[in-house]
Amino acid sequence: MNKRKTMSAESQIKLYYKNVAAEVIGDEHGITAEQLKALAKKTSPLIQKLNEERKAGQTPYRDLPFNTQIAQQVKELVGELRGRCENLVVLGIGGSALGNIALQTALNPYMHNLDDAQRPGPRLFVFDNIDPSQFGSFLDWVGDKLDKTIFNVISKSGWTAETASQFLIVRQMLLDKLGPEGVKNQVVATTDPKDGILRKIANDEKLRCLEVPQGVGGRFSVLSAVGLFSAAMCGIDVGSLLKGARDMDARVSQEDFYKNPAAINAAINYHFYNRNKKISVMMPYSYALKDLADWYRQLSAESLGKAKDLTGSEVHIGPTPIKALGATDQHSQVQLYREGPNDKLFTFLQVNNFERNLKIGPVPDCAPELGFLAGADLGTLLNNEKKATEYALLETKRPCLTVVFDKVNAYTVGQFIYLYEVTTSLAGALFGINTYDQPAVKLGKEATFALMGRAGYEKLAKHIQPSTEIDGDFLI
Ligand code: PA5
Repeated sequence: MNKRKTMSAESQIKLYYKNVAAEVIGDEHGITAEQLKALAKKTSPLIQKLNEERKAGQTPYRDLPFNTQIAQQVKELVGELRGRCENLVVLGIGGSALGNIALQTALNPYMHNLDDAQRPGPRLFVFDNIDPSQFGSFLDWVGDKLDKTIFNVISKSGWTAETASQFLIVRQMLLDKLGPEGVKNQVVATTDPKDGILRKIANDEKLRCLEVPQGVGGRFSVLSAVGLFSAAMCGIDVGSLLKGARDMDARVSQEDFYKNPAAINAAINYHFYNRNKKISVMMPYSYALKDLADWYRQLSAESLGKAKDLTGSEVHIGPTPIKALGATDQHSQVQLYREGPNDKLFTFLQVNNFERNLKIGPVPDCAPELGFLAGADLGTLLNNEKKATEYALLETKRPCLTVVFDKVNAYTVGQFIYLYEVTTSLAGALFGINTYDQPAVKLGKEATFALMGRAGYEKLAKHIQPSTEIDGDFLI
């Protein structure tokens, strides 16, 4: 188990929201005490409603951190496979990949894949794309290591063209090099317990299987076998991750608005959307947290971007989530963030105690001007850059939230994931939309089937032809 980032300190992550207030950025752009009171009044019954829906089994993702059966199945499979696995390859896309990537970046060292000394388990490769050059280069590398490589193909529906294609390539490679036993030995399929073509193949070819629990959508599935298997294989402390989520569950179930960080977070996001700040920027000042911002981007976009509300009226609603990285994007985005349109809400992720403390070296005699940096540590510099950027944004009246991590470890990352899942559910309730469907993604998937000649999609293929064929008159 990776002791580097386990639950050493049981610290609670905190949401700091003073810097969205009118007293800081003025009435024109900030939230007044009256407005916050009105938000509390609107949100409180929705917390209650969500708690009731959860009790009625309508939001099964809420129960994942308490599901000992999934944790046990994952543990057993990891026990069986870890000893003979040098490389773990995840094949999946969207909610079947982003959580795996986020957990790995957050909780394993940057050089995990390259440095044996820093790696507590197998190397991890997550392919959430089908670019032939990228995947081909990987297959060239892995071709003579197949017997030491486990392929975890993850698809809830089983029908996603990208994942199915990757799997069919890998399956043939395993068949060619290791025979049918190779497919059986090296593949783990994570999919719906009953339905879908991947389930059919898994049953037919007697593959090892894990389940995506029914009623849990891809983007809410990271705390199921979808995210837990690769995490546990790679030495992440899954027990602490789930404990973090459970402890956050107690906080975000509280019906007192002012004590509930998901409620305040959702209400503030909702409020600013309605005041023409329709862009929501998440900016971690920590490389480890960078892919959690990517995970959040999908969670928010697919959950809240909807054409119709629950009454069926057309609303075309949804904040646009943007990910940025501090300090890198200070030198790319902050000019726009400060001087461009005041149409964004910023959420910084801040880490009080970095795991490493790197001292900046002394200055050469010719450059005493750099003396202010000498001897300081990089974590302090990074946190001061966060403060400096936030200060600069506040000077131009931009609202800023901060999620404060005492440390980045499995326990705090588990809290963060659960906080944002419930924040998203509450934001969906405030917007009055269905948070858990994604009809617009479905159409793109079906159009791909049509373009690839899948039987039953001939009519759609004809229909989309005019908009997919290049018209030479417009090509310069
Ligand atoms: O969140 C979602 O539902 C989507 O992003 C899916 O995870 C993604 O489309 C992949 O679907 P599947 O797991 O069915 O292959």
